[in-house]
Amino acid sequence: MSSEIKKIGVFTSGGDAPGMNAAIRAVVRAGSYYKKDVFGIMRGYEGMIDGDIVKLGARSVGNIIQRGGTILKSARSEEFRTAEGRKKAFNNLKKEGIDSLIAIGGDGTFTGLHKFFQEFDVPSICIPGTIDNDLSGTDYTIGYDTATNTAVDAIDKIRDTAMSHNRLFFVEVMGRNSGYIAMNSGLAGGAGAIIVPEENYSFDELMKLLGEGSTTEKKSNLVVVAEGSKIGGADELARKVAEHSSYFDIKVTILGHLQRGGSPTYFDRVLASKMGVAAVEGLMKGENDVMVGIRNNKIVYNGFDAVMQKHHELDSESLRIAKILSI
Ligand code: F6P
Repeated sequence: MSSEIKKIGVFTSGGDAPGMNAAIRAVVRAGSYYKKDVFGIMRGYEGMIDGDIVKLGARSVGNIIQRGGTILKSARSEEFRTAEGRKKAFNNLKKEGIDSLIAIGGDGTFTGLHKFFQEFDVPSICIPGTIDNDLSGTDYTIGYDTATNTAVDAIDKIRDTAMSHNRLFFVEVMGRNSGYIAMNSGLAGGAGAIIVPEENYSFDELMKLLGEGSTTEKKSNLVVVAEGSKIGGADELARKVAEHSSYFDIKVTILGHLQRGGSPTYFDRVLASKMGVAAVEGLMKGENDVMVGIRNNKIVYNGFDAVMQKHHELDSESLRIAKILSI
């Protein structure tokens, strides 16, 4: 391993995700292990622009592996989109002697990092941290497993009341344009229908899945809707179904930001730990302008184009199974 990298800056950016703290811990401890200085940059690119930078050591990341959120805080920075903002950020890194960067975040974070690398040639690696699991180049992103478990827990609770009152619930989950959380929380929660952005459903198909007037005579049901659904979110679908038929007693629950919080699952902690170490070792080996990923349980590094030009496709087999089981 070459040891040209001496001072690593680490930050979290974009929407927070459970497991980000475990990733910060892994980066800082792996850095210390390899005798690198590690600096925490607060509030993502915002803190880089403001020079809000703190020295971190192995002890400063104790007792955080189990905590949700991010001790470094996060932001979506508008100023970093400007050339002046990025120049300010670069000058602050220079002032601290930071010679490499590890960013933990989603597609927006990686896009900013790539641009910064092109302009200033600062060696950098992105760790995928987002509940959306929408990055191709990795089977899983940090936070997705926890968010999906949180959604399943909520769906189970909604099911209790739905069944007691014979009601039809539309439950909306996050994921931006990705249907991962919806697909797997729907499958695990026994949903009667799962609406994901990746599939083109018609309203009639939805009505058929709900089984109105069919031999199944289901009145109580759960529909999990991804927020990026092309035929409308939970509110809109509930309204359309109510307009179409008075057969169902309909309620809506939008899970929202509760899916972003909470203690990370074992899976996200282990994933974050592996990826954090891989990011430090990747920088030392000369990996650059790449995202760490996990494929078939092996660490991989993928370039910007490979990650950004493809949608992280849903597993069509899971969708097929969900349909068979929803009768
Ligand atoms: O990318 C994570 C995510 O939670 C998406 O699922 C959601 O669409 C978005 O962020 C919400 O962003 P904000 O917290 O800025 O409202």
